[in-house]
Amino acid sequence: MTMQRGAARALLEVEGLTVRYPGPGRSRTRAAVTELDLSVYPGESVGLVGGSGAGKSTVAKALAGLVQPEQGRITLAGRDLLGCPSRTARRLRRPMHLVMQDPYASLPPNRQVAATVAEPLVIHGLVDRRMRRRLVVETLDLVRLRPCEEYLRRYPHQLSGGERQRVAFARALIAEPQLVLADEPTQMLDASLRGELVDLLGQLCARRRMAVLHITHDLALAQRGCHRLVVLRDGVVVEHGPTERVLGRPRHPYTAALVAAATGSEAA
Ligand SMILES: Nc1ncnc2c1ncn2[C@@H]1O[C@H](COP(=O)(O)OP(=O)(O)OP(=O)(O)O)[C@@H](O)[C@H]1O
Ligand SMILES: [Mg+2]
Repeated sequence: MTMQRGAARALLEVEGLTVRYPGPGRSRTRAAVTELDLSVYPGESVGLVGGSGAGKSTVAKALAGLVQPEQGRITLAGRDLLGCPSRTARRLRRPMHLVMQDPYASLPPNRQVAATVAEPLVIHGLVDRRMRRRLVVETLDLVRLRPCEEYLRRYPHQLSGGERQRVAFARALIAEPQLVLADEPTQMLDASLRGELVDLLGQLCARRRMAVLHITHDLALAQRGCHRLVVLRDGVVVEHGPTERVLGRPRHPYTAALVAAATGSEAA
């Protein structure tokens, strides 16, 4: 999967991002992410890949404002997210939507699907109820929760794991975000549905110039859905480049080992 970026300006630019979680008492833990650089262009799908504990979700959380970085710059659509008051940062983050790893934790338990999916529209000030309902139904259809009317009034506990994840996707997509941060959100889906959702995101990248940061340890998914890959190990970027090059001719032994593990062959 390749694409021409031309002279477009990066939508998301991350420079020197370092995140450290507080340890017990006054102790300092080692950094979960160290000096990370990353850029995502409009219409582009970038994969952040690496094994468990590599720091992938930490990057997503820092981008979404859920953890405070120790150092670094995050720029979205040319605006600096870390150097402004948190209220301003929340507004600046609106074009970005995070879909989390855990669908059980990410949907409000006491809310029906219709209200959950419509939430970003309300935040964006779209209050016309009929319009809202139409968009909710259209978006449920987009993520293949059909027949949509059957799902509107359900609560999360009345959904399967995969259905919850599709609800989380519908909520992410409904307000036409410029950037979707997808943190392993397809884990609970079967292979065919996972492929379909990855392809859907790809279509939206092409059609709406939406950008996606796919966070995953699934290299097959990364290969199917990403133009470029950034490989993370122990919080440090070890390699980045076009997906075909990184997976076809890995330069770093860690990437080679990931590829070998994914294909079931011996590491080079
Ligand atoms: N709230 C926290 N407090 C302390 N340490 C944390 C916290 N969250 C994550 N960590 C640590 O930071 C490191 C990176 O975690 P992170 O969740 O970013 O990894 P990941 O790449 O998303 O892994 P996975 O593929 O398993 O989801 C790990 O060593 C983890 O133990
Ligand atoms: Mg994670």
